[in-house]
Amino acid sequence: MLVVSNLCVSYGPVAAVKGISFEVDSGELVTIIGANGAGKTTTLNAIMGLVPIVSGNIVLKGNSLAGVPVENRAGMGLSFSPEGRRVFKSLSVIDNLRAGGCTLSRSDFDRRLGSVLEQFPVLRERREQDAGTLSGGEQQMLAIARALMVNPTCLILDEPSLGLAPKIVTKVFEIIAELRASGVTILLVEQNVKKSLAIADRAYVMELGMIVRSGPADELADDQFVHDSYLGTGSRESGNG
Ligand SMILES: Nc1ncnc2c1ncn2[C@@H]1O[C@H](COP(=O)(O)OP(=O)(O)OP(=O)(O)O)[C@@H](O)[C@H]1O
Ligand SMILES: [Mg+2]
Repeated sequence: MLVVSNLCVSYGPVAAVKGISFEVDSGELVTIIGANGAGKTTTLNAIMGLVPIVSGNIVLKGNSLAGVPVENRAGMGLSFSPEGRRVFKSLSVIDNLRAGGCTLSRSDFDRRLGSVLEQFPVLRERREQDAGTLSGGEQQMLAIARALMVNPTCLILDEPSLGLAPKIVTKVFEIIAELRASGVTILLVEQNVKKSLAIADRAYVMELGMIVRSGPADELADDQFVHDSYLGTGSRESGNG
C-alpha cells in the first residue's frame, strides 16, 4: 500500500529524518513509536506532502508521490488526522465534516456523512455545535471523522491519544482497532507505546531521525530495548499510561 524508501527531510541545516525506509501493507495497522523530536510528525507530513523532502521515494499503491500536490494525495486514497487534531474551531461539527469531504460529489458526500455520523454518534448529537466547544476527546473523534470523509484506503493518524483522559484514550484506541477491522490500512504515530503495540500488526521505533528497531508489534512489546526505553519503570512512558 505504502512504501517509503531512504526518506530524508531537513529543516534548513537540521536533518529531522535521516534516510528511513518502511512499508505498510494493505489492511495492516502499522505504528511508528518514538520519543519527542524523533521525526515522527515530519515523516507523516512528508508522506502527505506538507513538508518538502530532501531525497527518497514515497510510493502509494505503486504510484510515486513525487511532485503530487497535497490536495491530490487525498484523492489518491490518503487521509490524515494531524497532531493536535487541528479541527476548525469556529466551524460547526457538520462544517468540519464538509471540509473533510469537500472533494466529494453531492451524493458521495451525503453517503459518507451518513456513514461517519453512524460511526460517531456523539458527533451526530453535536452536529450543529462549534467544534471549539467540544471536549478534547470529541475533537479527536471529529478529527478522525473528518479524515474518514473521503473513505480513505490509507489513514494516517498522528498522536490521536495525546492529552486525553485515560478513559477517552481507551475509546480512541477501540475506534482505531475497529477501523482496522473494517479493512482500512492505518499508519499510526503514537507515544502511548503500550496501547499502540497492543493493536498494531507491526511497528517501527524511531530515534533521532532514524529507525532503530522494527518487527511484529507483539515481538517488539517483548523486546528488551523497547521495554527499557518505552515501557519499563523509569522509561519515557512511565506515569503516562
Ligand atoms: N518547522 C520546523 N522547523 C524546524 N525544525 C523543526 C520543525 N518541525 C520539527 N522540527 C525539528 O525536527 C525534529 C523532528 O520533529 P518532529 O516534530 O518530526 O518529531 P516528533 O517525533 O513528531 O516529536 P513529538 O513526539 O514531540 O511530536 C525535531 O528536532 C524538531 O525540533
Ligand atoms: Mg509529532
